[in-house]
Amino acid sequence: MKEINIGLCGLGTVGTGVVKILKNHQDEIMYKLGSQIAIKKVLVHDIHKQRDVVVDQEWLTNDPEELVSNPDIDVIVEVMGGIEDTNLLMEQALRNNKHIVTANKDLMAVHGQKLLRLAKANNCDIYYDASVAGGIPILRTLSDGLASDRIQKIMGIVNGTTNYILTKMTDDKLAFDDVLKEAQELGFAEADPTSDVEGLDAARKMTLLANLAFKMEISLDDVETSGIRDISQEDISFATSLGYTIKLIGIASINNGKVEVSVEPTLLPQDHPLALVKNEYNAVYVYGEAVGETMFYGPGAGSMPTATAVVSDLMEVIKNIRLGISGNAYVSPQYEKLLKENKE
Ligand code: NDP
Ligand code: HSE
Repeated sequence: MKEINIGLCGLGTVGTGVVKILKNHQDEIMYKLGSQIAIKKVLVHDIHKQRDVVVDQEWLTNDPEELVSNPDIDVIVEVMGGIEDTNLLMEQALRNNKHIVTANKDLMAVHGQKLLRLAKANNCDIYYDASVAGGIPILRTLSDGLASDRIQKIMGIVNGTTNYILTKMTDDKLAFDDVLKEAQELGFAEADPTSDVEGLDAARKMTLLANLAFKMEISLDDVETSGIRDISQEDISFATSLGYTIKLIGIASINNGKVEVSVEPTLLPQDHPLALVKNEYNAVYVYGEAVGETMFYGPGAGSMPTATAVVSDLMEVIKNIRLGISGNAYVSPQYEKLLKENKE
């Protein structure tokens, strides 16, 4: 069976995990796919940097053309981050008939629908499960596991960095800036952690969840967003004394076709299941008309949990390539309508 070749964009926290899983879980990959996945090229900023994982020096490049225009590469795995430049690269990759797996919620929240449409037009797949809630397969659950249901509401903790900060400020009385630094060192925070602490990262994830769950085109501007930057040790002590815990909660609901999405610090009773979600862990409730209430819990950030989601998506894409069913990317009917109207 033809070996599938990938171009890996990024060898940081997540990219390193991807290389480790591809190497250490070869048996699991072989069992499912019947062949191995080969890394052909790895895009980085600095090809001379000391790495946490051993890679073939010949793989490394800082020229994206060696990946997106490389005829030997079947799938681009994008774990480098960025929005506009990355979008242009991904568009180029799709035009060159490369499938995409990405962990980049910033990109998908802003350009996702356009990219999915381009993918469909080029018979390519885009899988992006790792972009929401790290190791929890929540997007896959919405698009596959709960596909037959009508989702009414999604609520949960979808940012690991802020949950880590709030947990340490509450349980260990640590100062905001010290814990943020720790979260950065542990690889949970974004390159610019402002998007974590101001709630933007969670808002992007809630947008992706809402779009998939409600089959809509909701933009980031529609999300009421506030973060945790202004939460002080005094706020936390006061909440604790009243029997509450502060958590950054995202909610997306649909009522008579009207969608509401928000992200904000919320007081939860200390015995509420979401109040018990600690550190970088995430948890997401999904309420479906038929299934009722379901809850998903797991590590929401970090190298190996996120890389698990990336490699699992990659295996799904490869399965689709083999079955000849690529290009089934979901594009919201609203977005299709909008494009048609704009054209007319
Ligand atoms: P890092 O900052 O750790 O790694 C980024 C990597 O991409 C580095 O190897 C860097 O190269 C390379 N890179 C970045 N920009 C460019 C560029 N323009 N050209 C060439 N190489 C580039 O990021 P993470 O691994 O933490 O995150 C990657 C993506 O995954 C982001 O979209 C993030 O939002 C998402 N994500 C991250 C999670 C996490 O827990 N960290 C969880 C879920 C999603 P060099 O090493 O040379 O600097
Ligand atoms: N910075 C993100 C977080 C990474 O802390 O949740 C995972 O998407």
